[in-house]
Amino acid sequence: MKKIVAVIGSPNNEKSNTVTMTKDFLEAVKEFYPTMEYEVISLGETLIQPCRGCWACMKTGCCIHKNDALPEIMQKIRQSDFLILGSPVYENMVSAQIKMLFDRTFMWIHLVGLMGKPALTAVTYEEDGRWLTEKYLTALMTMMGCITVGHLRGIGKAPGCFPGREHCKAKYKALAGQVAAMLSGNRKIRPSIYNRICFWMMKKHHHTDYEYQYWLDKGWFKLSYSKALQKERTHPKG
Ligand SMILES: Cc1cc2nc3c(=O)[nH]c(=O)nc-3n(C[C@H](O)[C@H](O)[C@H](O)COP(=O)(O)O)c2cc1C
Repeated sequence: MKKIVAVIGSPNNEKSNTVTMTKDFLEAVKEFYPTMEYEVISLGETLIQPCRGCWACMKTGCCIHKNDALPEIMQKIRQSDFLILGSPVYENMVSAQIKMLFDRTFMWIHLVGLMGKPALTAVTYEEDGRWLTEKYLTALMTMMGCITVGHLRGIGKAPGCFPGREHCKAKYKALAGQVAAMLSGNRKIRPSIYNRICFWMMKKHHHTDYEYQYWLDKGWFKLSYSKALQKERTHPKG
């Protein structure tokens, strides 16, 4: 059973325009691929502690915070077949909830923890700031190893006021079909040049012994992103 996990950083939960746009899209994917499962995690409903900046994750692979919702969310993201990461534009950027998620998943960047996971961004906004927000989401996901295959964009206003909804439903039907085809294995998911560049950059960024050993154990130092991905798919390790 294939599963899409969507993590949405709006505090508005059920009234969130970003959640509504994402759920409409997921229902459209389901029309093409009825056995697909999905879960929408709204960060407005969950308690995530801010990063303490202690570097424990970089030294041990584990975060010192153990009693909030993040470890379970991270596990759900890792186990998913496809990730949607969404945010409203707040002051030209992602919401604080998404920033908190990124700070707490710092190690996924250095360890390329989501290697090969296909992903989409989902952003709603009223007037401006969409470009920067979407680029930021895409950059962070790419550094984590995700392969971004598209973007959902909608014009939203106050909570529950989503004038762009019908337009989005029509606009993203074709993308829903493509995502369904990717999940069922009928459409190839190709890494981008950014995946290759980010992987090459992360090879040179080893701050701790733990990170270095992790890359060594994975056998990634001499490989390109595509070769490392192939290796992960055939012999996952670590
Ligand atoms: C604190 C705050 C800051 C915002 N900043 C922007 C902005 O910089 N640019 C913009 O176009 N919309 C901005 N908006 C509007 C939201 O992006 C828009 O209403 C969005 O659809 C809300 O999504 P949500 O319902 O999923 O929370 C802001 C809204 C709030 C509450």
